[in-house]
Amino acid sequence: MADPRVAAVNNVLAVLDGRSLDHVLAVATAADERDRALAAELSFGVCRWYRRLDALISLLLQKPFKNKDRDLHVLLLVGAYQLLYSRIPPHAAVSSVVEASRGLGKAWASKLVNGVLRRLQREHAALEQRVDTDAATRFAQPDWLYQAIVAAWPAQAERILTALQGRPPMVLRVALNKIGMEDYLARLTAQGLGARAHPTVPSALVLDSAVAVDRLPGFEQGLVSVQDAGAQLAASCLDLQPGQRVLDACAAPGGKTLDILQSVDGLQVTALDVDAERLQRVAQNLRRGGVQADLQAGDAAQPQHADWGQVRYDRILVDAPCSATGVMRRHPDIRLLRRASDLPELAQRQSTILSALWGLLVPGGRLLYVTCSLLPAENAQQVEAFLACHADAQSVELPTVPGTPCGEGVQLLPGIDDTDGFYYAALHKVPVS
Ligand SMILES: C[S@@+](CC[C@H](N)C(=O)[O-])C[C@H]1O[C@@H](n2cnc3c(N)ncnc32)[C@H](O)[C@@H]1O
Repeated sequence: MADPRVAAVNNVLAVLDGRSLDHVLAVATAADERDRALAAELSFGVCRWYRRLDALISLLLQKPFKNKDRDLHVLLLVGAYQLLYSRIPPHAAVSSVVEASRGLGKAWASKLVNGVLRRLQREHAALEQRVDTDAATRFAQPDWLYQAIVAAWPAQAERILTALQGRPPMVLRVALNKIGMEDYLARLTAQGLGARAHPTVPSALVLDSAVAVDRLPGFEQGLVSVQDAGAQLAASCLDLQPGQRVLDACAAPGGKTLDILQSVDGLQVTALDVDAERLQRVAQNLRRGGVQADLQAGDAAQPQHADWGQVRYDRILVDAPCSATGVMRRHPDIRLLRRASDLPELAQRQSTILSALWGLLVPGGRLLYVTCSLLPAENAQQVEAFLACHADAQSVELPTVPGTPCGEGVQLLPGIDDTDGFYYAALHKVPVS
């Protein structure tokens, strides 16, 4: 059976090589459920705090490891994470990692691993103070992203960056067309599960602690879905009416598609995604909710030759591919995977999708643009640029989104809004007279 620390090292190395942690964990094999959970917790934690842990360990190494021994470097980060951020008793935090150096086939390094971690244990307060003089290191963000967040949200940056280092709560969306909030809360209580209503998003319930979905009453019947409160606003922003044709253009895994279909009866929804495999997750979600949509694999930027591109829609949701900087609480590997140089390409892709889909919207229709980004280049600036070159587009107020106005659109901010970071903007297509 794989040692969970060794598994965590391999997971983090895979992320450093460019793979997403979700993907790496999905294919991870461990016979024992508890070992798998521990490996996942350590992998998430090391990714979340990577830069800070790296700075601490680098202070304690006389010279860096050679590339062929970078597994040992990551193993020391796992040890530092256990010492500084876990409830594992210090003795076990160190000895388990020393043991794992053998599991990596590098018993020769066990003395070094032991020495470095013992010193960290003894001197951590002074060492932490030293590395924290650099603010980006303190918040474990790459310089470019730290600077981008501070530049975009100077007044809120400290709270946002602090929240991004926290563990996100498990949040449910209650299908309010099927069950009332009070009734569902009562069903949770009967099950021994505590929760509170979200302060600003009426369908959202924040669980006291995370549980497996099979413990949630009515999950299989679609009474609830797991969805951050900030992601639960698309349906209300679309101003849906029965009978409308709706295109959900970047639909997978289908959280918002299900929300849309559950919010109004009689919609004709096309759920499109470029990733055919991920569309299967949409199908699963819709089956659970007992609702149907026309599922299409295709590129939202190229409607010209596709069947779904010949239809005209009353409502279009563009939940665009983006930097995902708003969801770093849930996907801490984003800070290791994303590069500043990704942004121009992402912004270009968003702009191409927006322009391509605008032609499919009926006059009088509404397009909702959503991202889970904190960065204006993907959000307000994107929408401002769109409005500047589409005379038939008008921006629409979004009274149901409780976030911070930011030029065009509204931004939800982690640490401020009790949500992940999301951006919403709605565009009305002016009918030609
Ligand atoms: C933010 S996720 C969507 C989340 C989804 N709306 C939900 O609520 O569950 C973005 C999705 O866009 C898809 N995507 C990226 N580029 C696309 C394109 N050119 N056309 C269609 N889908 C695209 C990705 O495969 C991904 O599933």
